[in-house]
Amino acid sequence: MAQYLLAIDQGTTSSRAIVFSAQGLPVARAQQEFTQYFPQDGWVEHDGEEIWLTTLKVCREAIQQSGLNPADIAAIGITNQRETTLVWDAVTGTPIHPAIVWQDRRTADYCSELKAAGHEADVAARTGLLIDPYFSATKLRWVLENVPGARERAERGELRFGTVDCFLLWRLTGGKAHRTDATNASRTLLFNIHSQQWDLDLLKLFGIPASLLPEVLDCAAEFGETNPSLLGAGIPVLGMAGDQQAALVGQACFQPGMVKSTYGTGCFMIQNTGERPVVSRNRLLTTVGYRLNGKVSYAVEGSIFVAGAAVQWLRDGIKLISHARDTEALAEQTGDACGVYLVPAFTGLGAPYWDPRARGAIFGLTRDTGIKEIVTAGLQSVCYQTRDLLEAMAQDGAAAPSALRVDGGMVENNWVMQFLADILGVPVERPEVTETTALGVAYLAGLQAGLYRDLDEVAGHWHRQQRFVPRMAEAHRKKLYEGWLDAVQRVRSGA
Ligand code: G3P
Repeated sequence: MAQYLLAIDQGTTSSRAIVFSAQGLPVARAQQEFTQYFPQDGWVEHDGEEIWLTTLKVCREAIQQSGLNPADIAAIGITNQRETTLVWDAVTGTPIHPAIVWQDRRTADYCSELKAAGHEADVAARTGLLIDPYFSATKLRWVLENVPGARERAERGELRFGTVDCFLLWRLTGGKAHRTDATNASRTLLFNIHSQQWDLDLLKLFGIPASLLPEVLDCAAEFGETNPSLLGAGIPVLGMAGDQQAALVGQACFQPGMVKSTYGTGCFMIQNTGERPVVSRNRLLTTVGYRLNGKVSYAVEGSIFVAGAAVQWLRDGIKLISHARDTEALAEQTGDACGVYLVPAFTGLGAPYWDPRARGAIFGLTRDTGIKEIVTAGLQSVCYQTRDLLEAMAQDGAAAPSALRVDGGMVENNWVMQFLADILGVPVERPEVTETTALGVAYLAGLQAGLYRDLDEVAGHWHRQQRFVPRMAEAHRKKLYEGWLDAVQRVRSGA
C-alpha cells in the first residue's frame, strides 16, 4: 500500500509542496515565491494563473526529488491562504479577475455601511466572524459589481467562486470537482457554522447567486482525483483545510484548551474549544477548527495580518536587511529596541482591534536609533501582537495555556521565540517539524486514506524540539507591553 502523502501548501507569498512519510517526516520539498500586486493603497492581488502554475511546478519538483513513483503517493492534501477570493469561468477555468487577497481592504466602505445598517450582530451569530474586508463575501460581491458582465454571468450559472483550495482542486481535477471543506467555507462570511451549510439569508444580504458556490465536505473526504496528465498518475485528493486550521491539526491541538500560533505572512492564534462554538466578547473569531465524520471541532481565533510580512518589508520594502535570517543577530545585539515601537498596520489592524483604516508607524526614534533598533522593533511587534490575542482570550475567560505551540517560518528565530515567551509570560514550544501547516493537511489526507486510525495516533507523532521558558522580570514585561499599547492607540483610525 502506498505510504506517502503529498501536501500542497499554497500560502500568501509562496506555493509549496512537501512529500511526507506516513510517520509525518518530510521526505522532499519544493517552494516557489510568486508576485504580489499592490494596485492601490490597501489593495492586494495575486494572479490566479501564477498561483496554479507555481503550485503545479512545486508538486512536480517535490515528487521528482522524493524519487517516488507518483503512484506511490497515497493521497494529496491541499491547504491554503484562506479567504482569498477567485471567480472563474465554469467552462474554461480562467479567472475573470485577479485573486483578491485576504489582506485586501478595498471593501472597507461597504463593510462600514453594513455595520452602520446594524447587520453585524446577525452576521456574527451565523458565521462566528465580524463584518470586515478580510473575509471573502464582500470581495466576491466586489467582483460581481465591478467586472463587466460578471453578475449577469453568475446569475446564468456561468461562473464559479472559490477560495484557493477550491480553485486548485478544480484545476487539479481538470474542472471535475467544485468542492471546498468546512474550514475554508467558515471563512467566507457566507457559511453558517451551526447548520454547516451556506446561509441563504447571507447570500441574499451580500447579493451572491448560490450557483457560484462549491459543495462543502469534511476536512478528510473524497475531494476528487487529479488528472493523470498533471502529476504522472491519478492521485486522490483526500484532505483539505485552511492553512491555520491545518496547523492546528499538525500541532495535534485536539484537546479543548490547546492553543497554537502560526507565524507566516500573518500570525494566527487558534484555540480548540471542542464541540462548543464559543462566542468571544473581545472580537476574536469563532471558526471551524476541523470537521471529521460530520463532527465539528470549533475554535476561537485571533488573526494578525502582519507577522513575517513585517520582516519581508524590512528586507524588500525599506531594505534594512538582506536576509530574514540576519534579524536574529541584529536583535541579539540590540536587546529590547530601546523604546522604539514599530506598529505594522500596513493593511489595517486585525484582532482584537479590527480597524481597516489604521496604518503603520514607527515611534520612539532618537538620534541614535539605527537599523538594528528598527529591525528589533519589527520582530517585537509580532510578539506584542500575540500578547494582544492572548489577552483577548483571557478576557473571554479562557484559562492561560500551559504552553503555546508555535510554528511557521519565523519560529526558527530563537531570539523571537525567547522574546515571545518573555512578553507572554507563557512557555513557548517549538515542534520538531515546523512545517506544521503542510503536515496537518497530510495527516487529514492520511486519515481518509486509512494510514492513521484516528487523531490519537496522529497526536503520537508530535514531538517537541525546544521549549522557551519566560525569564523576563514582570515589571519589565509590563513596561514594554504598555509602550506597545500606547503605540497601537496612536495608529488607530477612530473608525
Ligand atoms: O487568513 C489568512 C491566512 O490563511 C494566511 O496565512 O500563512 O499565508 O500568512 P499565511
